[in-house]
Amino acid sequence: MKEVINHIKSNKENYINELKDYLRIPSVSTSSSHKKDMLTCAKFVSNKLKDAGMTKVKIIPTKGHPLVYAEWLKAPGKPTVLVYGHYDVQPVDPIKLWKSDPFEPVVKGGKIWARGANDNKGQNFVHIKSVEAFMKTQKKLPVNVKFLIEGEEEIGSENLELFLKKNQKLLKCDAVLISDTSLYAEGIPTINYGLRGLAYMEVEITGPNKDLHSGSFGGSVANPINELAKLINKLQDKNGKITIPNFYKDVIPFTKKENANIKSLNFSDAKYAKELGVNELQGEKGFNTLQRLWGRPTLDCNGIWGGFTEEGAKTVLPSKATAKISMRLVPNQNPDLIAKEFTKYVKTLVPKSVKVKITAMHGGSPVVIPLDDPAILAASKATSKAFGKKTVYTREGGSIPIVVDFVKLLNAPAILMGLGLDSDNIHSPNEHFSLKSFELGVLSSAYFLDEFSQLNK
Ligand code: BES
Ligand code: MN
Repeated sequence: MKEVINHIKSNKENYINELKDYLRIPSVSTSSSHKKDMLTCAKFVSNKLKDAGMTKVKIIPTKGHPLVYAEWLKAPGKPTVLVYGHYDVQPVDPIKLWKSDPFEPVVKGGKIWARGANDNKGQNFVHIKSVEAFMKTQKKLPVNVKFLIEGEEEIGSENLELFLKKNQKLLKCDAVLISDTSLYAEGIPTINYGLRGLAYMEVEITGPNKDLHSGSFGGSVANPINELAKLINKLQDKNGKITIPNFYKDVIPFTKKENANIKSLNFSDAKYAKELGVNELQGEKGFNTLQRLWGRPTLDCNGIWGGFTEEGAKTVLPSKATAKISMRLVPNQNPDLIAKEFTKYVKTLVPKSVKVKITAMHGGSPVVIPLDDPAILAASKATSKAFGKKTVYTREGGSIPIVVDFVKLLNAPAILMGLGLDSDNIHSPNEHFSLKSFELGVLSSAYFLDEFSQLNK
């Protein structure tokens, strides 16, 4: 191990430069204008996997953006790990708020700043580099390794889901290793054991058949924006409970052990509120912040538009108003059932004076991973060695839709070896990733391969 670790420590600068090249590719999966960049990025990843010494490196086309697959299976009798990550990134808007070009990475203050620096290029790159460190110094890996890096995580991983269903044999493994989540705090090694799910909806309200003068017509017909606002308001009560019928029916409460773990983490509401610039936190009554984030479902409006939003004032009674509304889900809520309940309920809330169109967009199932699997323990030991501290266990508020399919279809535990920080501005302007976490991530990954090889198959 010593050689591997020394190799990693002495190649830090090279890794950062390579990561910069990765971050320069604007692989925004949501927007069709970036289709070419997606392929460029898939090629970049596949070249890095080849350089790392992986074999059978393939770019696999899908109905959407391509997948990248690679394997190295020359450790007979040893377990197999499947490393999953995504090379697609979120859009950059609002671009005005970026302090530097989102696709021209800058190193400043011990961090690398660019879209995808944390989510997920910086985090998946650590595993490519740890494999490379073994291959360069030992000419072999201690376990069998497969890589699957996709380009559609940020848009729901639907094509990967189809691929997974048809390629269970190809992807067969003893554990799935994923770094696409967060550390509990800077410098604290963390294994995440839960992710929330998601049901994402769009609601369009239509009133009059055209925009109207708000003086000539205001007061005589429904205003779609007003009606949409009323509707959104009705989706939660004064205690922060979601009012959709049957919404909480399948929610599994925290166990005593989980509550004890939360207590032991000593979360500071005051510090959290300060970092976010709010005077007070707010959420579902009867739960603390970590419970709310990790184990309670939520409903949030992600965007709302209609009428006149340009500079100045225009007196208009708009014809349409639209909102994007998403619900974070927890085990055992089912995103399809929740989307149906939402649709049914919202239809009852709108008055006859307007029409409503409800579209279910992408979703994802929540997941909780049992912590007693030996692969999880190996990962916990590995991160602890790399960081020089005891590993903590957390759940996440975010979602990685494919994880549940990995667990179910491959019958393998998912190891969520999160390396980001909640303050890294993922999905937001000025995304960044700590270079310290990047290095400790490469080390954690290397230690994991070593620890994992000591498990009997
Ligand atoms: N890396 C995130 C998931 C995440 C977010 C983990 C926050 C930990 C903290 C992932 O790339 C992501 O953003 N997922 C989406 C999935 C959605 C589009 C289906 C999410 O959670 O919004
Ligand atoms: Mn993301």
